[in-house]
Amino acid sequence: MIIKGKDLSVSIKEALKVRVDVLSKQYGRTPNLVVILVGDDPGSVSYVTGKAKAATEVGIRNTTLRREATISEADLLDTIAELNNDDDVDGILVQLPLPKHIDENKIIAAISPEKDVDAFHPINVAKLWLKQPCMLPCTPKGIIKLLHFAGVDIAGKEAVVIGRSNIVGQPVAKLLLDANATVTVAHSRTKHLSSITRRADILVVAVGRERFVTADMIKPGAVVIDVGVNRDTRNGKLCGDVDFEEAQYIAAAITPVPGGVGPMTITCLMENTVEAYINRMSKQ
Ligand code: GUN
Repeated sequence: MIIKGKDLSVSIKEALKVRVDVLSKQYGRTPNLVVILVGDDPGSVSYVTGKAKAATEVGIRNTTLRREATISEADLLDTIAELNNDDDVDGILVQLPLPKHIDENKIIAAISPEKDVDAFHPINVAKLWLKQPCMLPCTPKGIIKLLHFAGVDIAGKEAVVIGRSNIVGQPVAKLLLDANATVTVAHSRTKHLSSITRRADILVVAVGRERFVTADMIKPGAVVIDVGVNRDTRNGKLCGDVDFEEAQYIAAAITPVPGGVGPMTITCLMENTVEAYINRMSKQ
């Protein structure tokens, strides 16, 4: 089975649009998301364009603030402070990566936790690890939704996550653990990787290298979630971290790239924006 994240994201967005319509009438204002894009990295431009398009589709007002790659850290912090203090802004997202001269941790920590729709702020990360109610990071949240959509019962399964990033590997491992999987996190220093991955009932791959996971690394009947977004060096097309052509015959279910995890990440960002908006409006 191919797990079509694109289809699931379309139906979630349709339901969300109805919800946004109702809430906007109830509260007398529509949710508002501001995305900050520093520089012109083509990957980042493409992600930000996708986020703006999805927001518009579901009826979320949205603005993309573009800043030169040479912007100072102080000026970027000033922009964030303004948005934090703007009552008409519900969600703030700073597209990563940032230029080298800017401290990403400092920027993330400057975003008001209640407007932090990426859920990257240390307060929100702490809440996730302490199992307190909080906004969930978009890609890990989307992956759990994909597993539910594919009918996977996570409890008691062996889950292996390859990659230990703050954005994907670590938080998805925590969400799988909370769903009662037995979780292993593998990474670039892991020895005997394929013997570990072959144990996985659920294999999540977030490495950033094309064809990193080959068919021989997959247990027959496993569910494979491919978080990679790479350019295929053979034809220039988008591809994931898993050799899809061969893996699809070994796995019981697998996400394609494009059309798998990517659309779910964006859709979860829309959900988080609406959640931030509801939290703020219900406090007023
Ligand atoms: N860069 C790559 N993934 C992400 C993401 O989920 N959020 C932000 N802000 N930047 C990213």
